[in-house]
Amino acid sequence: MAPAATPTQRKDVDPVEDPAGRARFDELITADQRVEPTDWMPDAYRKTLVRQVSQHAHSEIIGMQPEGNWITRAPSLKRKAILMAKVQDEAGHGLYLYSAAQTLGVTRDRMTEDLISGKAKYSSIFNYPTPTWADMGSIGWLVDGAAICNQVPLCRASYGPYARAMVRICKEESFHQRQGFEILLHLSRGTKEQHEMAQESVNRWYAPALMMFGPPDADSPNSAQSMAWNIKRFSNDDLRQRFVDMIVPQAEVLGLTLPDPDLKWNEERGHYDYGELDWNEFSEVLKGRGPANAIRLERRRQAHEGGAWVREAAAAYAERRRAMAEKASAEKVQAA
Ligand SMILES: [Fe+2]
Ligand SMILES: [Fe+2]
Repeated sequence: MAPAATPTQRKDVDPVEDPAGRARFDELITADQRVEPTDWMPDAYRKTLVRQVSQHAHSEIIGMQPEGNWITRAPSLKRKAILMAKVQDEAGHGLYLYSAAQTLGVTRDRMTEDLISGKAKYSSIFNYPTPTWADMGSIGWLVDGAAICNQVPLCRASYGPYARAMVRICKEESFHQRQGFEILLHLSRGTKEQHEMAQESVNRWYAPALMMFGPPDADSPNSAQSMAWNIKRFSNDDLRQRFVDMIVPQAEVLGLTLPDPDLKWNEERGHYDYGELDWNEFSEVLKGRGPANAIRLERRRQAHEGGAWVREAAAAYAERRRAMAEKASAEKVQAA
């Protein structure tokens, strides 16, 4: 049997010339079923997914940096072990997602090149610095918390490899959120200085975490198409509201306040109202002018260059194994 066509091979098929493929795709989407790599898909669907999944992968990898730089300074052996496990999880998330993106026909080299050249985007939250230990708590509680709200619906995304990667990622993210919450709880109930450190950190991370859901629905032009394709399930504002409703009672348990004077329960809506966010800041950070954009990219570039010998060694090893296997099979033929 001939091997199934890979997405790369099928890319040259003109969408117009494959009406059966299009009908099947529409059927899958209408029935809310999964599209798999060997299925025909519209070019725009493939492009949207390549962009979203690769950006997501880049975010996981760049996201290792703000916490990675606290591993050597963690306040205890236990905290160090937990933080190392967490940062390692993020590397794993990046790998699952790069693999999912590869099933759409884009190469890992291409994605890496786009990231280190500054062409590709990643979540702007990772362009904020982490000056205190409490930031490890805020990132876990707020950043991983917002990631969960965003990502749980993606476990039902229409593209199979992406949806399946998200299932495992979400399980690990909920551990991340709990460890962040626990760090803040510990600090909040500690000395006066520790409590203040926790509060100061939450003050800095609250608004950027809310902006992780993307611009308001009215300014989010691609959302409608992504929702029609069952990639996105809820709008940016709906997800942001869910997140706010989730963290307000959690902040009370922590004994910390959220830095928003407009935050209050709205009986009529059955949700918390919250204040305007500074979208100018968001767009500045997104354009590469955030507090740590340059340093994040530079580190990533250095890590890639520093890892060149590992890639070369792995390729040389694979080549030697291939040559040995070839020689062994030639000898077998000769002996027979
Ligand atoms: Fe992650
Ligand atoms: Fe995480």
